[in-house]
Amino acid sequence: MNAAALQNEAELTVHPLSAHIGAEIGGVDLTRPLSADKVRAIRAALLEWRVIFFREQFLSHEQHVAFSAQFGELTVGHPVFGHVEGNPQIYSISKFRKATRFEGQSLLRPWTGWHTDVTAAVNPPFASILRGVTIPPYGGDTQWTNLVIAYEKLSAPLRAFVDGLRGVHRFAPPQGASGTDAFNQAVTEHVLVSEHPLVRVHPETGERALYVSPGFLKQVAGLAPRESQALLELLWEHVTRPEFTVRFKWEAGSVAFWDNRTTAHLAPVDIFDLDFDRQLYRTTLVGDVPVGPDGRASVALEGSPVGAAAALAQN
Ligand code: SIN
Repeated sequence: MNAAALQNEAELTVHPLSAHIGAEIGGVDLTRPLSADKVRAIRAALLEWRVIFFREQFLSHEQHVAFSAQFGELTVGHPVFGHVEGNPQIYSISKFRKATRFEGQSLLRPWTGWHTDVTAAVNPPFASILRGVTIPPYGGDTQWTNLVIAYEKLSAPLRAFVDGLRGVHRFAPPQGASGTDAFNQAVTEHVLVSEHPLVRVHPETGERALYVSPGFLKQVAGLAPRESQALLELLWEHVTRPEFTVRFKWEAGSVAFWDNRTTAHLAPVDIFDLDFDRQLYRTTLVGDVPVGPDGRASVALEGSPVGAAAALAQN
């Protein structure tokens, strides 16, 4: 494929950014309502490329919500950590938000920080839409990985083994760190613990994805602790291999839209070595309950499904 833009039927341009994941989309103005053709074409690009990027889209909170709502129902900004005051569907991704959550020294491993959004919920959001507002001149890139290609690149015997496994996802501080009072209070007041299949069948494409969110998945059900740890470390190392990933350099006005059913991502930590500020805002779309290759659905061990923010407002 050459660098020239590929045109699709709705005249979007789609520039792939790596072999397996990520494409930059042009030919669309996200501040305005989209035609049905454009919505279809963007959804198709999302399913194919897992994460899609738009440039020079200077959205207000209201336009961000309106763009997102064309693809599904919005959740509350974050079911545990709240939302922007006055904007229940917007979550603030500020540079120092995590500094208020954990204290101590985390055990840093190659997959530390990689996660899929809110997999502690029985119905994790199907997609997230993140927009950049204040962006450092350098540093602060985000990375995503393709969990479908990661599954497909496992050996057949290992695929058959993980196909039948399930794991427990919860909010907890990274190993070595402890939760601040604010973190502990938030996760106690909004407790979410769920058991998901390790392999998730995509409800739209039927593809299998290695659903192993490193930040949230704590234990493989039915395995001894050491067995679970060794298997998860192998899978986490595998899903974060560079050839399955894409790395995005933000600008003010950039928007990233990703499918949480087939990706995990990594927020940057190099920004803490720089004096620059970084501020982004995120919406998430209500997700379905994952189903494994054996047809078994995820179950909530604690907490309720994450519903639509609009429904919350009416209750
Ligand atoms: C996120 O985890 O959704 C935020 C990613 C980022 O800060 O780049």
